[in-house]
Amino acid sequence: MKMIQTSLCILVVLTVSGFPMMESRVESKKGIEYMAMQCRKHKAVLTDFGAVGDGKTSNTKAFRDAIAKLTPQAADGGVQLIVPPGNWLTGSFNLTSHFTLFIQQGATILASQVESEYPMIPRLPSYGDARFASLIYGTNLTDVVITGNKGTINGQGKSWWLKYRSGGFNLISRPLLIEILYSENIQISDINLVDSPMWNIHPVYCKNVIIKNIKIDAPIDSPNTDGINPDSCTNTLIEDCSVTSGDDCIAVKSGIDQYGIATSIPTQQLSIRRLTCVSPDSAGIAIGSEMSGGIKDVRIEDVTLINTQSAIRIKTAIGRGGYVKDIFARRFTMKNMKYVFWITGSYKLHPIGFDPNALPEIRNINYRDMTADNVTISAKLEGIKKDPFTGICMSNVTMALSPTTKKLQWNCTDVAGVTSRVKPEPCSLLPSKGPAMDCHFPTDKIPIESVVLNKCTA
Ligand SMILES: *[C@@H]1O[C@H](CO)[C@@H](O)[C@H](O)[C@H]1NC(C)=O
Ligand SMILES: *[C@@H]1O[C@H](CO)[C@@H](O)[C@H](O)[C@H]1NC(C)=O
Ligand SMILES: *[C@@H]1O[C@H](CO)[C@@H](O)[C@H](O)[C@H]1NC(C)=O
Ligand SMILES: *[C@@H]1O[C@H](CO)[C@@H](O)[C@H](O)[C@H]1NC(C)=O
Ligand SMILES: *[C@@H]1O[C@H](CO)[C@@H](O)[C@H](O)[C@H]1NC(C)=O
Repeated sequence: MKMIQTSLCILVVLTVSGFPMMESRVESKKGIEYMAMQCRKHKAVLTDFGAVGDGKTSNTKAFRDAIAKLTPQAADGGVQLIVPPGNWLTGSFNLTSHFTLFIQQGATILASQVESEYPMIPRLPSYGDARFASLIYGTNLTDVVITGNKGTINGQGKSWWLKYRSGGFNLISRPLLIEILYSENIQISDINLVDSPMWNIHPVYCKNVIIKNIKIDAPIDSPNTDGINPDSCTNTLIEDCSVTSGDDCIAVKSGIDQYGIATSIPTQQLSIRRLTCVSPDSAGIAIGSEMSGGIKDVRIEDVTLINTQSAIRIKTAIGRGGYVKDIFARRFTMKNMKYVFWITGSYKLHPIGFDPNALPEIRNINYRDMTADNVTISAKLEGIKKDPFTGICMSNVTMALSPTTKKLQWNCTDVAGVTSRVKPEPCSLLPSKGPAMDCHFPTDKIPIESVVLNKCTA
């Protein structure tokens, strides 16, 4: 935890928004202030590398040249690459260590719609799929910041969605906007992401990750446009994000079936707080369905969900193996929900060659202090026969039903747990323990929550 020690030496207090707003005419003289895990000794501007911000000229070479030429400076005290106002069309490029990509207000990185601009890269060990590199890609790095004062990355996903819908890319994963593998000390903050071809942000096999003040938008009918997918990562903080999307706002993962079991890297020490989400056909926070490397110690709090299919949805199946345990959620405010609580033990999506004897373990799932308005179904909790999901706890939850609500409000099979002060009345598998019980929520912090960001200047 070298990063944390270094950061703690410099005492800078975070503003509530995490980012001080500045007038743009002040920027040119004083620079733009921003908060980051690390400030940089060197600075360069994208136009130094021949980039043209007209929205038409390809800047793939400019981005790739910039990173290649700045890598020696990055090794000498770090470097920041400024993306100035303009529309910067580009294909995939790779990040380097000790590097900050700063996307200024008024700047949009436009993702190329040309497939050959995205190299094919090897499958992830914990998944089976062939795939395109993401727009912004990084592997085996340390100390990377992607930030701005509300600059934008536009995935221009429409052509990818159309091709996917007409049967293309069935066995190939479309480009993500940001994917970072095998890396540590990563910050992604204060930018807007729109219209990703697929998932938006995917840290995988990473340690010490901060994702904050991100606004993600994709049409609510766009395919697989997950917001943020922490995957086989340790010590991750996701805070103050707002997601409107066609798929899960956040999806916590750790690999699928035989691939995830063999890789066996869990997602653990994850804190999600102050999330706002709109996702009519998916979850506020999905856990799984890819959970074969295990998911544990997840804390989720202060979440607002509007027009969302379910709050937290745990998804698994026979064949997944792995576990989902020690999940803690509190203070959710929800409006217009199809389901509030949803656990699925029969999620049908398997790679060829999965092990039908690999049973997942689901236990110690805690939900408290929640209200929901206009709910169609309070809970569908479906465990697995001979592999019940246990230790489910719900306390102080009030759900108001919609006029068209279903008669069966709680459909519980193969689950066990307890409740207290939950309305409407839970199923018999989750008996009330009387009014005095509260489900557990940890009082300690995960390490990344104590990191203090530094005030830097772009
Ligand atoms: C980025 O790095 C990956 C993995 O090392 C590599 O396969 C890919 O070709 C690189 N992309 C570019 C644009 O250099
Ligand atoms: C990245 O790190 C992983 C895990 O340590 C290793 O297996 C892989 O070979 C590394 N890749 C590169 C390009 O260094
Ligand atoms: C209740 O939610 C449904 C969608 O689940 C929506 O169509 C309806 O307009 C909502 N009603 C109110 C009063 O917000
Ligand atoms: C019950 O939950 C609500 C939020 O939904 C919260 O305001 C209230 O303080 C909780 N009550 C107790 C006794 O914890
Ligand atoms: C309840 O859930 C079980 C298991 O998922 C399902 O088979 C059954 O159809 C559900 N019942 C109703 C009335 O929805």
